[in-house]
Amino acid sequence: MSQTGFQTLHGMVDILPDEVTKWQYLENIIRETAREFHFSEIRTPILEPTELIARGIGQLTDIVSKEMFAFQRGETNYVLRPECTAPVARAYVQHRLEQRGGAQKLFYIGPMFRAERPQKGRQRQFHQFGAELIGSALPEADVEIIRFMMSVYEKIGLKNMSLQLNSVGDPESRAAYRKALQDYFRPHFSSLSEVSQTRFEQNPMRILDSKEEEDQLFLENVPLITGYLNEECLSHYQKVKTLLEESGISYTENPRLVRGLDYYTRTAFELTSPDLGSQDALGGGGRYDLLIEEIGGKGTPAVGFASGMERIMIACEALGISLGSEPALDIYFVCRGEEAQRWAMQAIREVRNQGLSATLDFSGKSIKAQLKDANRNNARFAVIAGETELEQQLFTLRNMVESQESSLSLEEILTHIKS
Ligand code: HAM
Repeated sequence: MSQTGFQTLHGMVDILPDEVTKWQYLENIIRETAREFHFSEIRTPILEPTELIARGIGQLTDIVSKEMFAFQRGETNYVLRPECTAPVARAYVQHRLEQRGGAQKLFYIGPMFRAERPQKGRQRQFHQFGAELIGSALPEADVEIIRFMMSVYEKIGLKNMSLQLNSVGDPESRAAYRKALQDYFRPHFSSLSEVSQTRFEQNPMRILDSKEEEDQLFLENVPLITGYLNEECLSHYQKVKTLLEESGISYTENPRLVRGLDYYTRTAFELTSPDLGSQDALGGGGRYDLLIEEIGGKGTPAVGFASGMERIMIACEALGISLGSEPALDIYFVCRGEEAQRWAMQAIREVRNQGLSATLDFSGKSIKAQLKDANRNNARFAVIAGETELEQQLFTLRNMVESQESSLSLEEILTHIKS
């Protein structure tokens, strides 16, 4: 315990009331877009079997090898979900969602956990919204997913983003590419960074992702995956590009784009923003045609994306985009004396029954202090119940914006405010 008492854990953040309104605003945009695109919400548990995440995302990825919040209890190994694609795939298999007919279009919003080194835009508990389209191998599905993602950003008003696109091929193309990469790096093996030396055998494609100084020289002329894609992958990739162009979505091909999760096949994409600093990925995703089989289901093609919600907040701040503020309070009841307080307690029920928002003083402070508090709470009106009001059985209604007062019954107040 620190001097000031308990604190949030490293990389974990409280979202306080003033911030929550921004989150709700963003969540509303996501839900509205999901409705337009006809995606249904799915909510999976925060804890998942460790084996699902390890098998789904890949044992050798940073997420699984270094960043899992995992623990054992009894015979069971639990992990706080680091992402939601493997959990949604598990739910799809477990509940036989294919029986709902057709491709399943699912979306989610929620917290994810990765034990990364915290910095701006990188937390240990962070939030993603994402969508998965399960049961279609068509390039149209890839583009539907990208359109969903872009549509949310557009509604928010985000600008300057860059959509990076690649195809990471299928196992056949990748085997050829893997060999080419190993042939290329082998003569330089001893000069590669330690991480890249490990990746050389295990997953040479991840070397392309290296940020290590000593690797950069060798990355300049590295063979690119595009030259190793088989015909099916190439034609899928081509179709995705054409459909994106027809959708008016601009993109940059980035044949070096390797995502940090092993389940991708064919399409991979990432959306970056210069307004984010070093953690510049707003969102990313791709096709994962083998994941469902990998975790025990029937082979089912699928594609999806996820986006970091904290990063959206950061980009909005940098661009001066306001994400909504606390809704105004209709009435603040200002009371003086016990009897007036009881009168106000009765009146406030009627006000709320009419769908208006109202609060009353809980401090017992002076009328002046209560009016100040009404101001702080952005109240449109104060309804004053003091001794005179009680005697006349008429409240004083004060318009907080125009500072005008009138003596009215509750009924008249309601008519006035609602008009
Ligand atoms: P991801 O690229 O690992 O993909 O994460 C997606 C987004 O989550 C990132 O672009 C970033 O905005 C945000 N993010 C990731 N880690 C952190 C962190 N530590 N702090 C803050 N934000 C973070 C996935 O998670 C895949 N499941 C996406 C997907 C869905 N692929 C197919 N379907």
